[in-house]
Amino acid sequence: MRDIAAIVLAAGKGTRMKSALPKVLHRIAGRSMVGHVLDNLAALNVAKTAVVIAPGMDAVAKEVAPHPTAIQQEQLGTAHAVGAARAAIGKVDGTVLVLFGDSPLVTAATMRSLVTRREAEDRPAAVVLGMRPIDTSGYGRLVTDGEDNLIAIVEDHDADAKQRAIGLCNSGVMALDGAVLWDMIDAIGNENAKGEYYLTDIVAVARKRGRIAAVVEAPFDELVGINSRAELAVAEAYCQQRLRARAMDNGVTMVDPSSVFLSADTRLGRDVTIGPNVVFGPGVIVADNVEIRAFSHVEGAAIESGAVIGPFARLRAGSRIGRDAHIGNFVETKNAVLGEGAKANHLTYLGDAEVGAKSNIGAGTITCNYDGFLKTKTTIGDNVFIGSNSALVAPVTIGEGAIIAAGSVITRDVPADAMSVARGAQVDKPGWAAKFRAARAALKKSRG
Ligand code: UD1
Ligand code: CA
Repeated sequence: MRDIAAIVLAAGKGTRMKSALPKVLHRIAGRSMVGHVLDNLAALNVAKTAVVIAPGMDAVAKEVAPHPTAIQQEQLGTAHAVGAARAAIGKVDGTVLVLFGDSPLVTAATMRSLVTRREAEDRPAAVVLGMRPIDTSGYGRLVTDGEDNLIAIVEDHDADAKQRAIGLCNSGVMALDGAVLWDMIDAIGNENAKGEYYLTDIVAVARKRGRIAAVVEAPFDELVGINSRAELAVAEAYCQQRLRARAMDNGVTMVDPSSVFLSADTRLGRDVTIGPNVVFGPGVIVADNVEIRAFSHVEGAAIESGAVIGPFARLRAGSRIGRDAHIGNFVETKNAVLGEGAKANHLTYLGDAEVGAKSNIGAGTITCNYDGFLKTKTTIGDNVFIGSNSALVAPVTIGEGAIIAAGSVITRDVPADAMSVARGAQVDKPGWAAKFRAARAALKKSRG
C-alpha cells in the first residue's frame, strides 16, 4: 500500500447542537466523537493526520493531541476546511482520507476498503463512502451512472425533486488521490444555495479532469452524521449495539443486552455475566468469571476474576476489587482496593480505603475519609471483621485479624488481633418498660 494521510474535519460550529461545547467533543459511549474517529483511524497505517479546527477550539486541540491541528480561520465549507490542512499534510504520494468529526462510528475496516478501492487499477481520483439512510433529509445525494461510477454529489439544499428521491447518500467520508488533491480543492467554487465551498463538488471537478470517481457502500449505522442532540442519541444507540455485540462475541453473557450501557473502552473478560440495567462508565476492566448483578453502576474500576458485584452497587474511580471479592447492594467504593475474598455486602461506603484479604465489612460501615478540607485514608488489614454500622474516621489503620464491635466510631489505630468497641456503654434498667406502660395507662384512664 502507498502512503495514507488523514484529514479530520472538526471546525464546524455545530449550531444545531445548541451547545457551549464544540460538537465533536460531545460523547458517545463515554468517548468524544473526534476521539472515536481517531481511535478507529489508528488501526490503519496512517503516515500523517491533521484535525481541522476553528480558532478558539483549544479544547478540541487538547482532546486530539498529540495529533496536530490546522486552523480554519473562517467556516466557509468542507472543501475550504480540507484546504486549511494543506500545510500540515503537504503532498501525499498515495491516498488522503477525509473524515468528519461528526461521523464518529466509521470502522477501520470500512476506511480500509475505501483506500483499497482508491488504489485499484482504474485509479479513481475520489472514492466516496455511500450509505442508504431511512431518512435521507440533510444528506448529500450520490448521482451515479447506475454502476459504481459516481457522476456528482448534490447537497440536499441544492437538489431538485428527482435528485431528492435518490436513496444513496454521502456519508462525508472520502478517499482522495493525494497527487491531485490540492489542485482539485483549488478548483472548487461556492456557487450554491449556501454560498459555501463544498467538498462534495470534488466529484464533478475530478470528472472534468477526465478522472473517475467511485462509490463504496457501508451500513448506515456506521455512517450516521450527528448534527443535533436527537442524532447524538441515535448514534449512541448504534454504538451501544455494536459494543454489546462485540462483548457477547467475546464470551460475555448479558441477560438483557438492551439495558446494559458500555463505554468505548470497557474491557470485559470471558464468562462475565451482566444482569439487566448495568451501566459502565469509562475506564473499566473486568477479568474473567465476574458477575455484575442488576442495577450496578461501574466506572474507573478494575475487577478481578471471580468477584461478584451488586445488585445495586456503585464502583467509582480508583476501585480495585480483588479476586473472589463481593460487593453487595447499596455499597459505594471510590479509590478503594479490596483484597482477595474481601466482602462488603450491604450498605457501605469505602472511600480512600484499603481492605485486606478475607476481611468482612459489616452492613452500614462508613469510612469517614473527608473532614471538609482533606481526604485521608483508611487501611484495613487481612482477616478483619468490621461490625455493622461502624464509622472508621480516617486516617486510621485497623490491624490484621482485628474485630471492631458493631456501632463503633473508630478514631485511633487498632492493633492486630485486638477487639475494639467504641460506643456508649449499654445501661439496663430491669422492669422499667413494664412500669412505664402501667403508669401511662393509669394516667390515660384518669383523664377519661
Ligand atoms: C456534509 C456533506 C453532505 C453529507 C453529510 C454527512 C458537504 C458539503 N456536505 O453535510 O453531503 O451527506 O455531511 O454527514 O460536505 N466543517 C468544517 N469547516 C467548515 C464546515 C464544516 O470543519 O467550514 C466540518 C464540520 O465540523 C463537520 C463536517 O465538516 O465535522 C461536516 O460539516 P457539516 O456542516 O456538518 O455538513 P453537513 O451539512 O452535515
Ligand atoms: Ca454533519
